Amino acid sequence: MALKLPKVIGHRGAAAYAPENTIESIHTAADMGIEWVELDVKLTKDDVPIIFHDDLLDRTTNGHGLVAETTYDDIQQLEAGSWYGESFTGIKIPTLEEAVDALLERNLGFNMEIKPCPGRERETAEAALDVLSQIWDDHDRLLISSFQHVSLEAALEVANDWHRGLLLAPEGDEHTINPNWKDLAEYLAVKTVNLGTKIATRELVEDIIDLDLHPLIYTVNDPLDARQYQAWGVDAMFSDEPDVILENLLTVH
Ligand code: G3P
Ligand code: MG
Repeated sequence: MALKLPKVIGHRGAAAYAPENTIESIHTAADMGIEWVELDVKLTKDDVPIIFHDDLLDRTTNGHGLVAETTYDDIQQLEAGSWYGESFTGIKIPTLEEAVDALLERNLGFNMEIKPCPGRERETAEAALDVLSQIWDDHDRLLISSFQHVSLEAALEVANDWHRGLLLAPEGDEHTINPNWKDLAEYLAVKTVNLGTKIATRELVEDIIDLDLHPLIYTVNDPLDARQYQAWGVDAMFSDEPDVILENLLTVH
């Protein structure tokens, strides 16, 4: 199996144009000709994998409190579009299964970011991978990523041959990263290392390439930055405005 990454991955669907992590956001990315999207997965209180970013419901829905303490029945009642814009009123939080149905319908590749609520790292990975294993066949267009090593370890155990990506974020001082990232990448047998823009340097990108891994960068919304990362050898970038970034990348012949 060879991972077939696109140059640009729609972040949370296409978050600059539609409410993040919704079916509408998936369709918006597809309508723009984007090949892959990234979506965040976590569990409801009663273990249903849903597409959602925050631990709290408050920012992107009309609900309140912790996702980890809310059942799927209650999540289903919430409205997840009007915070973003009146025209999106009535949108629901999708389950992973509903999102995957939309991805398949639109022939999109998928970066599933496992974003567990604290303490639910293993069970979130297991539940999400269980859903995917029943409906996803094209493993060259699927990347399982996480900041959480326990989640990636679970993925390694239950779906060893599916491509994994290690997400790295700044730790402590804004620009430092986990000094053990190379050991982690090796232990977790990842194919990609996904860097935040705050920690992305040319040297780090080259270190990743030297390990025969793919460097990815999130979240890139400035076309000039995108061209710079492209020149460094970055394979794919996550963007809220994936159409703008795609249009502005240099065509390499
Ligand atoms: O997977 C890339 C990116 O989505 C990671 O950060 O917080 O947007 O999920 P976040
Ligand atoms: Mg994410």
